[in-house]
Amino acid sequence: MKNSVVTFQEAKNKKEKITMLTAYDYSTAKLMDEAGVNAVLVGDSLGMVILGYEDTISVTMEDMIHHSKGVANGCKNALVIADMPFLSYQTSVYDAVVNAGRLLKEGRAGAVKLEGGREVAEQVKAIVNASIPVMGHLGLTPQSINAFGGFKVQGKSEKAAKKLLEDAMALEEAGAFAIVLECVPEALARLITDKISIPTIGIGAGAGCDGQVLVYQDMLGMFSDFTPKFVKRFGNVGDEMKKAFAAYQKEVREESFPAKEHCYQIDDDVIAKLY
Ligand code: KIV
Repeated sequence: MKNSVVTFQEAKNKKEKITMLTAYDYSTAKLMDEAGVNAVLVGDSLGMVILGYEDTISVTMEDMIHHSKGVANGCKNALVIADMPFLSYQTSVYDAVVNAGRLLKEGRAGAVKLEGGREVAEQVKAIVNASIPVMGHLGLTPQSINAFGGFKVQGKSEKAAKKLLEDAMALEEAGAFAIVLECVPEALARLITDKISIPTIGIGAGAGCDGQVLVYQDMLGMFSDFTPKFVKRFGNVGDEMKKAFAAYQKEVREESFPAKEHCYQIDDDVIAKLY
């Protein structure tokens, strides 16, 4: 079944969990789509897991559009959501609408995601008014890493927890169709999920959210720079890849690959005339 903002809301209403994974290319997105995930997020985490930066700050609109095109081509049923990168929406409402539009027109995404609460509510409203669905993102918002002073759990004090709840309400009011809650205490994420009518998608926010998202390289053991506490490994693809790369090198070096069945043939007469 084709997923959309409508099916997201229906899932929350029916208390069915929503599944989302990140992807950055056609082949991976196609596998996820075939496996039946509800949404594929072209996360600006691509700055770290694809481009090898330390954070998401340097990711550009061109990076996001490029990867979103591939993901969109791989998804028949999953909703494709593309992240708005740092400073593509914080600068003005106009920039926000133009850049969100580019992610749909050029990147072929079905929705966009942006970070922040009340401070970006005007941008969310304007993007939604342009008929572009918006997913919010609260808690540990990686584009604010320099302001937070590191990757830390958010919303632990009474003041911070109250602000998170108010931000979630402001995003709902502005028209967001769902909100990612990242690195938020479990009980607070559950409370926010109960208090708002749009779905919450958790990453490091416990089982009380309406859905979950993980970065696929983390859940497959393909990214070893660091592994947050909230990641569960559902496969050891990184080890399998290393084994396959080593086996390939061995066979090339000992000349057992390519074998006869991997080669194209030509009449001996034709070759003989060229010697
Ligand atoms: O960029 C990303 O991958 C994300 C997820 C971690 C939610 O925003």
